[in-house]
Amino acid sequence: MSGQDSSNAGYDLVVVANRLPVDFSVGSDGEVEWQRSPGGLVSALEPVMKEADGAWVGWSGAPDLAHEPFEADGMLLVPVTLSAGEIERYYEGFSNDTLWPLYHDVIAPPTYHRQWFDSYRKVNQRFAEAAAAQAAQGAVVWVHDYQLQLVPKMLRELRPDLRIGFFDHIPFPAVELFQQLPWRHSIVEGLLGADLVGFQRGGDASNFLRSVRRLTEHTTRGSMVTIKNDDGTPGRSVRAAAFPISIDTAFFDELARSPEVQARAKEVREDLGDPEIVMLGVDRLDYTKGIRHRIKAYGELLQDGRIDPATATLVQVASPSRENVGAYQELREHVEVLVGRINGEYGEIGHSAIHYLHHSYPPAEMAALYLAADVMLVTSLRDGMNLVAKEYIAARSDLGGVLVLSEFTGAADELAPGPLLCNPHDIDGMKDIIARAAEMSSVEKRRRMRNLRRKVMSDDVAKWSKSFLGVLTAMPARDIYV
Ligand code: G6P
Repeated sequence: MSGQDSSNAGYDLVVVANRLPVDFSVGSDGEVEWQRSPGGLVSALEPVMKEADGAWVGWSGAPDLAHEPFEADGMLLVPVTLSAGEIERYYEGFSNDTLWPLYHDVIAPPTYHRQWFDSYRKVNQRFAEAAAAQAAQGAVVWVHDYQLQLVPKMLRELRPDLRIGFFDHIPFPAVELFQQLPWRHSIVEGLLGADLVGFQRGGDASNFLRSVRRLTEHTTRGSMVTIKNDDGTPGRSVRAAAFPISIDTAFFDELARSPEVQARAKEVREDLGDPEIVMLGVDRLDYTKGIRHRIKAYGELLQDGRIDPATATLVQVASPSRENVGAYQELREHVEVLVGRINGEYGEIGHSAIHYLHHSYPPAEMAALYLAADVMLVTSLRDGMNLVAKEYIAARSDLGGVLVLSEFTGAADELAPGPLLCNPHDIDGMKDIIARAAEMSSVEKRRRMRNLRRKVMSDDVAKWSKSFLGVLTAMPARDIYV
């Protein structure tokens, strides 16, 4: 791949995602200052982006921040500007108060507003235009996630020469739920603008294919969709398939082996008062993560006397997220009231039953927390994959620690039977599983963790992006250009 040459021929690989992989600001002299933002997608794409000298189209995260494309970390970053009103309607509204709850099995009720969809359409068009402007003739454009589902079709209309991939990082719901969406037809057609549509699980790809059959005229055969031309004749093909995402496993493994992180893990346990058992939850503060269910189960275990607050503690990291959306504000209230009640009941001076931390932490601190935790609780009500579960496993080269994992995560599909699986809706069942995890022998822990590491360590995120791009670029041209 050649990258951009002096004739300004464009980039051979263009990534389009809601967020840019850096936080940046523009100084009074017009100079850009940027800092790499933490996140899985950038580590997933870094190797392929560097190889291809690619471009990344995305939003800065701030309102009205406009800047020319600039170089950072060996990539061209192309900022897409959103106004405060667009952030409200496209990002907080349609993306995170309509699609997010709908795609997570309506755990919270989705809100349907026509103005929000109008804004979603306009912003998707802006992303499509920005990508079209950067892509070389015949380039590969890889569009990411639920915020940008109309982009594949818009981009194909602008640039029929491109190979277009789309990856959905979150679940794709059953058609019985998806069909609630007043704009379901536009969304399915938007996605079908891609040549390859990737999902986390086989079940998500099947849900999408069922929606295609139910809501459009196009025909499907196995994982392939044949698009019907306007005159009814069969046209190009689209493939829908699962590509479960992973993490930078070697990075977490090495980080957790470093003397600094190991020392920090010891210090964390000391600071917690050297309890016998440390349990850990790490989530964005999101209602899909089952944080309330987990804390409720933990509180009942204390109440029943099955876990002794004098010798056990729960650390809950809840990183701030989407704080302007009502459902997230309500969740925060509920979680904080619950934590306060349990701490009031079972805490002592110098010892809390639950350590609740409403912050985000850098990877080294996370690795130390993973090492310090005897039991990792991942109890999502619905989760596309859940990378925290994989990070915990990658950090535990000591083969210590037990993973309690919800059946409703993509990770459960891949990792069973290594973790202790739970149904977070079944509080009694979850209590039994947490108690079992707390009592597990080190022999069983080692056996389970060895199995988990065998799966996770061989499957890193660079492999994921290479495999998606490999399938996309190997698709026969006739499927793409007919
Ligand atoms: C999920 C989504 C991502 C999103 C991330 C953080 O993982 O799949 O697309 O970027 O949450 O959410 P935020 O709304 O802060 O970007």
